[in-house]
Amino acid sequence: MQRSFILLLFLGLVRATLQNYTVDDASPDIVYDQPTFQCNTTICPDGSPEGLFNKSTTLTFGSITFSFTGTAFYGFLDLVGACSFNVDGNQRPTLNNMTPSDAEQETLIVSKSDMANGPHTLVVAPITNGTIIGFDHLIYTYVKVRARAIC
Ligand SMILES: *[C@@H]1O[C@H](CO)[C@@H](O)[C@H](O)[C@H]1NC(C)=O
Ligand SMILES: *[C@@H]1O[C@H](CO)[C@@H](O)[C@H](O)[C@H]1NC(C)=O
Ligand SMILES: *[C@@H]1O[C@H](CO)[C@@H](O)[C@H](O)[C@H]1NC(C)=O
Ligand SMILES: *[C@@H]1O[C@H](CO)[C@@H](O)[C@H](O)[C@H]1NC(C)=O
Repeated sequence: MQRSFILLLFLGLVRATLQNYTVDDASPDIVYDQPTFQCNTTICPDGSPEGLFNKSTTLTFGSITFSFTGTAFYGFLDLVGACSFNVDGNQRPTLNNMTPSDAEQETLIVSKSDMANGPHTLVVAPITNGTIIGFDHLIYTYVKVRARAIC
């Protein structure tokens, strides 16, 4: 953080609060590197989860990249196969969900919190042939700064 900002915080002239923002699978901020198929609660294949955020999920064989400025993220997806999971260039534990029946049972949550406030990039990429990712939505936490009335 910039020194002047810290000074303003110290003086009590600005207030910082944490806010969550939800990004849907169809958002232009989500970058897919392969063709995608967006399905919804009426046309998703059998075994897809109920209760999709905004009624849709995006299926892809390729990677998903998302950049944001903030302190945490929580991604909600389904997976058949295995994926690497990378945050700011650092490898995180591999994501596995090897059978379609596993995928039916649970939505995977990929997350990282308590990060330094700033720009971050996460990449989820298939590491086995035939992996399918069903990306539902993502929540990220950002710092909202508000000026305080002085008088
Ligand atoms: C943001 O959402 C996550 C996941 O639902 C939750 O754990 C976290 O407490 C929320 N943070 C804020 C600031 O609302
Ligand atoms: C839900 O999906 C519609 C159609 O894709 C889109 O216009 C809308 O912005 C989405 N809502 C949210 C909260 O992302
Ligand atoms: C799902 O998508 C199909 C084809 O685009 C559309 O006809 C249908 O109304 C959609 N259903 C919902 C619940 O959005
Ligand atoms: C599996 O992936 C490798 C590397 O991308 C590729 O060379 C190979 O043809 C693929 N095999 C099948 C059966 O798709």
